[in-house]
Amino acid sequence: MQQPVRISPSILSADFARLGEEVRAVDRAGADWIHVDVMDGHFVPNITIGPAVVKALRPHTDKLLDVHLMISPVDSYLEAFAEAGADIITVHPEAGPHIHRTLQRIRQLGKKAGVSLNPGTPAKMLDYILEEVDLVLVMSVNPGFGGQKFISSQLRKIEAIRKSIDKLGKPIDLEVDGGIDVETARLAISAGADALVAGTATFRGGEAQYAANIAALRGG
Ligand code: DX5
Ligand code: ZN
Repeated sequence: MQQPVRISPSILSADFARLGEEVRAVDRAGADWIHVDVMDGHFVPNITIGPAVVKALRPHTDKLLDVHLMISPVDSYLEAFAEAGADIITVHPEAGPHIHRTLQRIRQLGKKAGVSLNPGTPAKMLDYILEEVDLVLVMSVNPGFGGQKFISSQLRKIEAIRKSIDKLGKPIDLEVDGGIDVETARLAISAGADALVAGTATFRGGEAQYAANIAALRGG
């Protein structure tokens, strides 16, 4: 069942020199989760942050830390991110040899397990793992950078995954990541998404705008 939409600001678009303050600001502005993009310069062509930064941010918010791992191999880092205070740990099936085992491991660590599908990865990939996940993250851009254009073919994928989740009848979140603005948020929600990652669209206009930016993505 599609739930009321949750907004997860991506701190990739925040001021990295003031990360703690930025997290507190979006928390106050009504963010539901905080999206943390972890990139290794190998799985994706960009390098961001690691578990030490997740740990440093943890005391700044009680909201769920929605940690998106774009690193490969991923398995050897799960424990570090769990210990650092991640609440949701999302991995890509291409980032290790045994996605089913990786998802089981995340749950064993007491965290919500997410799986993320790149724009070229079919929804079919979920056929034998949907029961092992708490969240599906549909990438609506190729991962690596903020500020890219929403790839509209992903709307069909969101619709297909919404059907699979409802058929299974489990409370699995369906989150969309990349190129989300007021218009694409509306399209993604109509297709069945119930969580939206937004970097550029949250952090634009300075701190005084964050609450209005987040409310607009929710649909007003
Ligand atoms: C892309 C990241 C996204 C990104 C979204 O690889 O996974 O979370 O920060 O940025 P916007 O909202 O600017 O497209
Ligand atoms: Zn992300």
